[in-house]
Amino acid sequence: NMRVVSGIKPTGNLHLGNYLGAVKQWVAMQDQILSQGGETMYFIADLHGLTEWIAPADLRANTIEMTATLVAAGIDPERSILFNQARVPQHSELSCLLNNVARVGWLNRMTQFKDKAGKNREGASVGLYDYPVLMAADVLLYNATHVPVGEDQKQHLELARDIATKFNADYETELFTLPAPLVSQAAPRIMSLRDAGAKMSKSNPSEQSVVKLIDSDEVIADKFRRAKTDPDLLPETWEELGSRPEARNLVTIFAALADRTTAEVVAEYAGKGFGQFKPALADLAVAKLGPIRDEMTRLLADQGAIDAILERGAERARELAAPLLRRAQEAMGLLV
Ligand code: TYM
Repeated sequence: NMRVVSGIKPTGNLHLGNYLGAVKQWVAMQDQILSQGGETMYFIADLHGLTEWIAPADLRANTIEMTATLVAAGIDPERSILFNQARVPQHSELSCLLNNVARVGWLNRMTQFKDKAGKNREGASVGLYDYPVLMAADVLLYNATHVPVGEDQKQHLELARDIATKFNADYETELFTLPAPLVSQAAPRIMSLRDAGAKMSKSNPSEQSVVKLIDSDEVIADKFRRAKTDPDLLPETWEELGSRPEARNLVTIFAALADRTTAEVVAEYAGKGFGQFKPALADLAVAKLGPIRDEMTRLLADQGAIDAILERGAERARELAAPLLRRAQEAMGLLV
């Protein structure tokens, strides 16, 4: 049976990169997988949020805000299991077990750690280094079959598969299912609007480079109108955009927002310049993102209700997690 599991860090509000790269897929899968008798589980990775310094008040507020955004974007807490990771202690417990299965050499190859730690490796938290093992626990704990993520998380899922394979072999069991990454074809990687060499992320240096789901209509439109591009016209085909990263990024965003292919979008705007394309993109983005923001704002008026959603989701998640954790402990010889 299909079980979809995925998470998002509450390090800031949702931005267009994680919306198009992951959350939009989460919503689509909710309908698709549930109608096939499967299950969808989505969580706020608050423990992962701790791997880089965040003030406690910000972590709390971001967790509530991210939950409201996910619900506003279409995650239905009645149909999907929606929770925060810290409320399901089995994530931490399994991670502690899997730390003995994962190898230092495997973690040393993780590019996200190298990027995030930068030159200050000695000063990075152990949590940041060990992050992928907790992430493996997140999905293995539920025997996830599919994990919808952006391109940047694929390497972490490969590691989760390696950990599951080694655990199953070392302890002569078939306990863990190997999770398959599902990378959105439409938006594998959304880049910064100022520097198409960097992925869109809340840590981009310029505010202008990241479209956030809390941005007002004016701010969204302004960010697209001022997005970096080149002076050339759009060609007839997507392939001809080959060496124009800014242009490719804007066409990718347009196509993902409009649920169309990049080929269709290029064909429609062939021979036109970005003076025409960018305002159209700005209008489209406002039309698609504005309603999500408005609904999120409405939901945030009752933070107690949001927290109650997370508590209910955590209760359901704990019920699924507890037996699997126990089997892992027993397989390893722990008396529990
Ligand atoms: P996070 O919180 O950085 O991002 C959440 C999701 O958004 C995707 N994403 C992007 N996709 C396309 N273009 C971008 N610019 C972009 N930026 C972010 C990410 O790939 C991700 O799918 N480690 C995860 C959170 C996590 C998780 C898990 C995910 C923790 N445990 C278990 C899946 C399963 C992360 O940091 O995502």
